[in-house]
Formats: sequence, C-alpha cells, structure tokens
Amino acid sequence: MLKDSPRVYGVVTRTLHWLIAVLLLIQLAGMFSTTLLGQGNAIYSLLAPWHKTLGVTLLILIVARVLWALTQIRRRPSHEGTQGRLAVAGHVAMYVLLVLMPLSGVLMSWGGGYGVKAFGTMLLPQGADVAWASAFHAWHGPVAWVLSALIVGHIAMALHHHFGRRDGTLRRMVGREDPR
Ligand code: HEM
Ligand code: HEM
Repeated sequence: MLKDSPRVYGVVTRTLHWLIAVLLLIQLAGMFSTTLLGQGNAIYSLLAPWHKTLGVTLLILIVARVLWALTQIRRRPSHEGTQGRLAVAGHVAMYVLLVLMPLSGVLMSWGGGYGVKAFGTMLLPQGADVAWASAFHAWHGPVAWVLSALIVGHIAMALHHHFGRRDGTLRRMVGREDPR
C-alpha cells in the first residue's frame, strides 16, 4: 500500500521517514562528533567532505516529504486528546526544523560567497554577497541542537509507546496495522 491509512503509514511515508532518519543521524553525528572527540576525529574527517552533498540530498527528500505529507493528512492515523495534540505539535515542530536545517546551510553558504557545491557540481555560484542569506549562519548550529533535542524526545516517546504502553504506534511506522 503506497498511501497512508488510519491504521498504518504507507510505503512512501515509511520510506521517507526511515531514509531521512538514517541520513540525518549520519549528518548530525559527523558534525557533533567534534564536540566529544575534537576537530580532527576520524568520524568528522570521513563525513565532513560529504556535508553539503548529504545536506542538499536531505533538502530534496525533506521537501518531497512535506509535499507528500500534505496530500496524506486526512488519511493518516489520527491523534486525539491532549497527548495526541502534543504529538502533532512535536511532529510539526520537527517538520519546520527539518526544512530550516538544510535551507539555512544552503542560504548561508551561497549568501556568504562560498557557493553551494554538491554531487561534484557547483549548484549555486561563488561570489554572492547577500547579507540576509549569510545571516542564516547564526541559525544553522542552534537549529541542529534544537532538532537533536526534539529527536531524542521523539525516539523516547516511540519506545515508551512500544515497550511501556504496548500500543501500535511504532508498529504502524514499520508497516504493521495498529489494532486500536
Ligand atoms: C539536514 C541537513 C544538515 C544538518 C543536520 C547540518 C548540521 C550541521 C551542524 C550540526 C554543523 C555544525 C554547526 C556548529 O558547529 O555550530 C554544520 C556546519 C556547517 N554546515 Fe550544515 N547541516 C545540514 C545541511 C547543510 C547544507 C545543505 C549546507 C550547505 C549547502 C551546510 C553547510 C554547512 C557549513 C558550511 C558548516 C560549517 C559552518 C561553520 O562552522 O562556519 N549544511 N552543519
Ligand atoms: C532521527 C530522525 C527522526 C525524525 C526527524 C523523525 C520525524 C518524524 C515525523 C515528522 C513523524 C510524523 C509522521 C511523518 O510525517 O512521517 C514521525 C513519526 C514517527 N516516528 Fe519518527 N523521526 C525520526 C526517527 C525516529 C526513530 C529512530 C523512531 C523509532 C525509534 C521513530 C518513530 C516514529 C513513529 C513510531 C512515528 C509515528 C508516530 C505516530 O503515528 O504518532 N522516529 N517521525
């Protein structure tokens, strides 16, 4: 089943969710490894040359995901009550930060005159001097920290639903029907 239904997320939503989760965690691990292990650590050295290519790939996947989610809003599992509304607010906040994360990277690199080189190609030219775009430099790091905190909370809630409440919340994101 490609599309979502009230009891289970469809193949497109699940593929985008798990693919973006894996790529995002690799991206964040590469950058935040410097906080724990110092600037020249092996993880950073391996991943840093791929930061912009991976970031632009994530931007494309995230935009596709937002557009797809808009077409599925009425079909998806519903979230009722106060806790449900909190869950939806958390998901919306993650969506906003997911877009802002790579977009701020593209804007600051382009606006600061570095251009945007990804997949071995210069996608946006060097030499621009655009103050409002390069100002996103102040956003890129903080957005990553706030998004990471939300992701930790999100994973904790998913595990709590599965192992604590023993309901079908995690199952419906791996393609099994939620019996509720
Ligand atoms: C979802 C995708 C992305 C994530 C999670 C991410 C995450 C990060 C993080 C955590 C840092 C370190 C920030 C700090 O030390 O304060 C960083 C730095 C950086 N990112 Fe990204 N990034 C993403 C996409 C991009 C994109 C698309 C570009 C450009 C095309 C980009 C360009 C940069 C640059 C140039 C730096 C170094 C900034 C500096 O220290 O001056 N990022 N990124
Ligand atoms: C690492 C980055 C992650 C991000 C950015 C993320 C983001 C999201 C978002 C925005 C949703 C709302 C549905 C959608 O539009 O797809 C969602 C749903 C969900 N995610 Fe994640 N997720 C991540 C990782 C994980 C992980 C590791 C788990 C499992 C441990 C998980 C479990 C779930 C579950 C069970 C749902 C369905 C929740 C419900 O129906 O109420 N997610 N995720």
